[in-house]
Amino acid sequence: MRIDNDKLIAYYADPPQDVCLEDIDLNRIPRHVSLIMDGNGRWAESRGLPRHKGHVAGVDSLREAVTTSVRLGFDVLSVYAFSTENWKRPAREVNLLMRLFATTLVKELPLFFQENVRLKFLGDLDALPTETRNVFEEGLRKTESHTGMVFALAVNYGARAELTRAARMLASDVAAGNLNVDDIDEGALANRLYTQGLPDPELLIRTSGEMRLSNYLLWQLAYTEFYVTQKHWPDFSKWDMLRAICAFQGRNRRFGGVGES
Ligand code: FPP
Repeated sequence: MRIDNDKLIAYYADPPQDVCLEDIDLNRIPRHVSLIMDGNGRWAESRGLPRHKGHVAGVDSLREAVTTSVRLGFDVLSVYAFSTENWKRPAREVNLLMRLFATTLVKELPLFFQENVRLKFLGDLDALPTETRNVFEEGLRKTESHTGMVFALAVNYGARAELTRAARMLASDVAAGNLNVDDIDEGALANRLYTQGLPDPELLIRTSGEMRLSNYLLWQLAYTEFYVTQKHWPDFSKWDMLRAICAFQGRNRRFGGVGES
């Protein structure tokens, strides 16, 4: 995506001591960055607040991450907001999260218009409460003509469920006579994932220090670089995004070969 240099320089004025815009190569910005936004609960608990306040603070961080991603010229920002396993949380927390998703999306739509951002969802939206699903579908409709960054929100998403669904789609296409078994290749499977049409993430950032994938984008992350920070999601800032990109640009990506591909 094209970078607006003036906006970017103004956005990254007043750097902290350890990182600044000049530390990164703007010609080697990852096209797709993905985020596992972990630690909202711990952030709240460490302040003596109810967990929900952590999710509310997490929305502010997410708004900043969207703006940062647009300024840095990402083509895609994807975020893991709610997994197929998160239904196991207390009903009260699940309900509050579902309402927060809906109210946030309504509130933030002007940002998507201002920045020409197109929404996309990863996951099974059918199982969501009607209000949340309606708001999501309206967000999809209203932003479908936008040509800027894609913001992909993973909600009720699980990679195993996604791969199982793709396998079922392949099988039913074969059974219907629309697909030959010999034509099932990586592309055929990738085209049946929620991420169909998006490039794979080049950088995955996880907050809160955990070193696991938590059933997130198992197929798409095959060659992705990981960056884990100890910070909880509500504390993740535009400077942390620069730190992550610096680390990414310092990696030697070999894709199973011997040198940079
Ligand atoms: C992980 O923290 C965070 C979540 C499960 C929810 C993420 C949601 C937001 C950041 C709000 C975003 C809003 C929209 C519209 C997408 P955790 O609760 O697992 O934290 P813990 O590991 O410390 O308990």
